[in-house]
Amino acid sequence: MSVANGTVAYGLKQRPAAGIAGKHVPFASVPVIDLAPLRRPNGPSGDDPAGKRQVARAIGRACEEVGFLYVANHGIPPALIDGAFAEAKRFFTLPLDQKLKLDIKDSANYRGYFPIKREKTDVTAEGDLKEGFDLMRELGPDDPDVRAGKPLHGPNRWPDDLPGFRDAILAYYAAMEDLARLLLRGMALSLDLDEHWFADKTVKPIGYLRLLHYPPQPGPIDERAIGCGAHSDYGCLTILAQDQVGGLQLRNSAGEWIEAPPIPGTFVINLGDQMARWTNERFQATPHRVINRSGRERYSIPFFFDPDYDAVVECLPTCQGPDNPPKHAPITGGEHLLSMLNATFK
Ligand code: OGA
Ligand code: NI
Repeated sequence: MSVANGTVAYGLKQRPAAGIAGKHVPFASVPVIDLAPLRRPNGPSGDDPAGKRQVARAIGRACEEVGFLYVANHGIPPALIDGAFAEAKRFFTLPLDQKLKLDIKDSANYRGYFPIKREKTDVTAEGDLKEGFDLMRELGPDDPDVRAGKPLHGPNRWPDDLPGFRDAILAYYAAMEDLARLLLRGMALSLDLDEHWFADKTVKPIGYLRLLHYPPQPGPIDERAIGCGAHSDYGCLTILAQDQVGGLQLRNSAGEWIEAPPIPGTFVINLGDQMARWTNERFQATPHRVINRSGRERYSIPFFFDPDYDAVVECLPTCQGPDNPPKHAPITGGEHLLSMLNATFK
C-alpha cells in the first residue's frame, strides 16, 4: 500500500521554499502523543476542551514537521493486538502451497496472500523481503456496492483451516477504523476545522489491513534488497502495529534515515499522499523503509485508512488562501486509491 520511491506524484519531496515559511529543520526523532484527552466523551461531565486542543496541536505539529508520530493511551485493548499478531504468525507458518491458494493475483479486489519478493515497494529495487496477507472491509454479496460492481468492493479471502483467524482479524480491523476516526478528529481540530469535519467523509471508509512477515536478513545488506523498500504511503493515514523486533526507518528532509524503534503500548501513525493532498501539502507523507537486521522474525500490521469511495477530497478550506492556492485538483477517495493500487500491482 505504498507508492514507490521516486514515483510519488505531487512533488511532495519538495517543500515550498519561498514566502513566509520558516526554515524547515530536519527532524531527529518522532514524538509520542498521549491520546487520552481526545478520547474523553463530549458533554459537561467528561469533556476536556483545553486538553483536547493541546493534543490536537501536538498531532498537527507532528504531521507538519515529521509526518510520523507514536500514539499512547489509544484505547485499543492489548488482547486484540496480541490476538491479531498471534493469528498472523499462525497464518505465515502454513506451508507455502496452502498460502498460495489465497494468492492475491487471483483476486479482482486486491485481497489475499503475496509471497516474499513479489512486491516491489521501491520500483528501483529488487523486491521486498516480506510476505503478506491483505484484506479490506468485509462485504457480503448483498452489499449494495458489491452488487453494483464498484471497484475495490468484494469479498475478502480467508484460509479455511485456521479457526478463529477471521474473527480475530475482523475485530482488529473494526478497532483500527475507530482509532482512525479518533485521529481524524484530532487532525481536524489541529487544522482549525470542526472536530467532526471528516465524519461524513468516512461513513464507509476504505480501510486496507495487511499482515506482514519479514524474515531476518543476515549478513551484508544491499540497500536494493531489504524488507520493505523506501516509499511513502498513499492513503490518508496509516496505523502501524509493529512487534518488538525493530527495523522501521524514516527519512528526514536532510536525507538521513532515522530509526523508529518499537515503543510498547503505542502505535506508529503516519500520513499518506492523500492526506498531503487534502491539506495542500501542509501535512507530510514521509518516506520510510524496513530493514530486519535483528536475526529474528519480524511481524507488523499496518492499517491504511482512506475516506469513502465517493468522498471528494479537495483542498481543505483552512489550508488555502490568496497566497496559497490549492496545489491539487479534487479527487474522490476511490479514484485516488484505485490509481495508486493499479500503478503498484499493475
Ligand atoms: C508499509 C510499511 C512498515 C512495517 O507497509 O507501507 O511501511 O513496519 N510498513 O511493516
Ligand atoms: Ni509504508
